[in-house]
Amino acid sequence: MSLDKVEQRMQELRATIVRHDELYHRKAKPEIEDGDYDALKRALSDLEGEYPLFALTDSPTQRVGDDRSDGFQSYVHRERMMSVDNTYSDDEMREFHVRMVRELERDEFALVVEPKIDGLAVSVTYEGGKLVRAVTRGNGVEGDEITANARTIATLPQTLTGTAEAPLPDVIEVRGEIYLTNEEFQRINAEREEDGLDLYKNPRNLAAGTIKQLDAAVVAQRKLEIVLYGRGYTEPVDAWPETQQQFHAWVKAWGLPTVEHQWVAHSAEDVLSAIRELDAVRGGFVYATDGAVVKLDSIALQRTLGATSKAPRWAMAYKFEAERAETQLKAISIQVGRTGVLTPVAELEPVQLAGTTVSRATLHNQSELARKDIRVGDFVAVEKAGEIIPAVIAVNLEKRPPSCQPYVFSETCPVCATPAVQLEGEVAVRCPNRECPVQVRRRVQHFASRACLDIEGLGEAMVDQLVEQGWVKRLPDLYHLDRQNLLTLGKSVGKSTDKLLAAIEASKQAELWRFIHGLGITHVGTAAAKDLARVMGSLQALAEAPMEAYLRDKESVISGIGKTMAEAITGFFAEAYNREIVADLAAAGVEPEAPNAGGGGTLFAGQTFVLTGTLPTLTRNEAAEMIEAAGGKVSGSVSKKTSYVVAGSEAGSKLAKADKLGVTVIDESTLREMLDG
Ligand code: IVH
Repeated sequence: MSLDKVEQRMQELRATIVRHDELYHRKAKPEIEDGDYDALKRALSDLEGEYPLFALTDSPTQRVGDDRSDGFQSYVHRERMMSVDNTYSDDEMREFHVRMVRELERDEFALVVEPKIDGLAVSVTYEGGKLVRAVTRGNGVEGDEITANARTIATLPQTLTGTAEAPLPDVIEVRGEIYLTNEEFQRINAEREEDGLDLYKNPRNLAAGTIKQLDAAVVAQRKLEIVLYGRGYTEPVDAWPETQQQFHAWVKAWGLPTVEHQWVAHSAEDVLSAIRELDAVRGGFVYATDGAVVKLDSIALQRTLGATSKAPRWAMAYKFEAERAETQLKAISIQVGRTGVLTPVAELEPVQLAGTTVSRATLHNQSELARKDIRVGDFVAVEKAGEIIPAVIAVNLEKRPPSCQPYVFSETCPVCATPAVQLEGEVAVRCPNRECPVQVRRRVQHFASRACLDIEGLGEAMVDQLVEQGWVKRLPDLYHLDRQNLLTLGKSVGKSTDKLLAAIEASKQAELWRFIHGLGITHVGTAAAKDLARVMGSLQALAEAPMEAYLRDKESVISGIGKTMAEAITGFFAEAYNREIVADLAAAGVEPEAPNAGGGGTLFAGQTFVLTGTLPTLTRNEAAEMIEAAGGKVSGSVSKKTSYVVAGSEAGSKLAKADKLGVTVIDESTLREMLDG
């Protein structure tokens, strides 16, 4: 290669890497696989080694990716947050060991091998044992303050207590990884698919997208988790233990979640066999593990080695190759979701992958399909990481059969043949026919499911039959089923038919939140449905509530319901079809029980409460229910009309506003005393 060409190639690599850094760190929507990204970085770093003349000091190989995004306060880490060098090769791991032997001038030292958790890096600060701050890595020097969102992580303690063996420093920054379990990932993606939203490719991207939500209410609906594996700044300085092993023991003693398993190694071969053991057991971990991080155990020796501009010299990550297989794409079928979203699915020649036979894989959506130019007949690479649904990653163009034609996305619904539409601002293409049998089936199945009306005997198979017979086209039809018709269904004779009808009849009296959840409004899960039920009191009131019922001066009025949800709810009821459903449910005799029905007290009549911060024993919902049972109202924002602000630990702006307006602030125990009369 001529020097000009080299320089040009390096320039291209830098631009490509910068683009993918942005997609991964800031947008949480990478377009290429981790392995391919690492290969680009490796190519650039090799060229920089060979042609230092063209190596730039601000090359992406010399810094950590930047995750900072709009809408967050910046915070300068008191101690920098580094990245770790990585490798996919045994030999490079051996070289890492040789280098340490040389630099430490000894060959006796312990190393710790830990799982490398695939989430996003965070630094959590405790002062005087209290959680005061959580910050993303950002560019390593300064990151985004995500404290409010981090507080929604149930396993992250608000307070820590030291023990005799594990004394707690006055100030500590602990570093770790925020992640989502595979189970939660699948639940959220399934919901997003129904709602016609983009799917996240893996739990890491979803966790990253979630922590950067400006609406903590949305964050709280997704169960983020955290694991802590490293240390940052402390006061007094040097208040940390002497080894990484001890670090894990201390952090655990303080009540923080830490890695599930770690290995101690004394040689390069020990390290490699620990990595293989980790690979064998990582499938059972709750978090996705994309490799191992090998660290020098002694913190004094870590100091001796120090760090480069972006990574410590005492640690090295070993990454596992994602499991891939090549197979032929036999057909592309289109699935129809609850809200009519059309999702392309790859029908594959069955292939063995990560211990299972894969014959179907998601193709995500039309634009993704077009971008990758995937065609029926192509040989494609499928990849599966952990428990995640397999996905088609790439096409092997060398094997493309000459007769292969570009795939033309269907312009009509495969089920009811209605012309498909693409709504503005959405990636998804939808079938707009509300009475499309698949949509009806999914909607009714959701309505009858455990998490909603929980109607016994109305399982998925039963719903299928009712829809197939044409007896149920809309939710209210469930309440007008004909007994004689039902008796003609082969399997359900006599008794079970009566039982089913009785269960449907009984569901008319179910709690209001079950109906709200059952309507299937985007973003409205069980917790939000309960919040809405408390405040609205009836389906009718919910259907008629204007935007101002949710947002006033950009602040949420109902505790737990933020902007995203407010828009989804008002958007849902802006459609006449949905308003009619509510009216027809009422006409059919649906009388959902309002939360206070019956026991409505008068103790707090005419008084408005605002809840803020974390109460010592009650959840927000529990406290709100107690106040409302006593006849009080609970609001999401403080005004002059607020009677009391109930503040827990870490109360934020609402407390400040209460002080400013002179509103009385009480704590949980005072609230309890007031309730006791
Ligand atoms: S130690 C200064 N340990 O992987 C050393 N990192 O590729 C700090 N990661 O930026 C990192 N699991 O976000 C460490 N057990 C573990 C880890 C881990 C995941 C992440 C972390 C880091 C990246 C390095």
